[in-house]
Amino acid sequence: MTPVIRAANLTFSYDDGTRALDGVSFELYPGECVALLGANGSGKTTFALHLNGLLTGEGEIEVCGMELSKENLPPIRRKIGMVFQDSDEQLFMPTVLEDVMFGPLNMGLTPDQAGARARTALERVGMAGLEAKAPYHLSAGQKRRVAVAGVLAMNPEILVLDEPTTYLDPPAERDLAVLLRELPQAKILISHDMPFVRALASRAVFFERGRIVAEGCVNEIVERFGWDLQL
Ligand SMILES: Nc1ncnc2c1ncn2[C@@H]1O[C@H](COP(=O)(O)OP(=O)(O)O)[C@@H](O)[C@H]1O
Ligand SMILES: [Mg+2]
Repeated sequence: MTPVIRAANLTFSYDDGTRALDGVSFELYPGECVALLGANGSGKTTFALHLNGLLTGEGEIEVCGMELSKENLPPIRRKIGMVFQDSDEQLFMPTVLEDVMFGPLNMGLTPDQAGARARTALERVGMAGLEAKAPYHLSAGQKRRVAVAGVLAMNPEILVLDEPTTYLDPPAERDLAVLLRELPQAKILISHDMPFVRALASRAVFFERGRIVAEGCVNEIVERFGWDLQL
């Protein structure tokens, strides 16, 4: 099977000299959900930001067979939907509907087409009926769903979720897990939330100081690195 993401030897340093990625190679296959585990500051977010060209270091990235390059950025950004930790940074339009329409409009769909996509996506995440609400009036769980709808409206093939359970209470977290589990896209899940990771991920990689130092099934990795809350 051909991977939907293939990254080889990614290396990146921030302007202040911090080497955040130090030779990361990684593959994601259609339909799988891979957890990125590892301590705060180990490079997980930096890695995710490379996948759609928000950061650029050395090495190679291929998304759905396209090499990551300036010319390929627009189609690649349509293939990868990113959901970030802080939905407030992702939701910025006056209403929920406009927010979810933003991506489709931006990729050149007509308002009618974009509206239809947005309504379908909002229904998919259980947010139908809240189209006219202001995003900042929503609960954390609702905001996260709208953020997910915003990426689904682009029909991506890959979802990247960076700490998606932050600010969610257990019921909202459970709802999100159920929703994500039903979505057919290949997923990269960055999370410290082990019940959530166990519910979704089939495989895990472990980051340490900008490198992937191990990979395997979730339980194997958790055990090997003591990556569970045990008192
Ligand atoms: N904007 C930035 N400028 C400088 N260093 C950064 C920046 N963002 C992250 N870093 C550093 O890069 C390393 C990796 O960070 P990050 O990718 O955010 O890790 P993680 O997501 O695993 O917590 C850390 O040492 C962090 O301090
Ligand atoms: Mg991070």
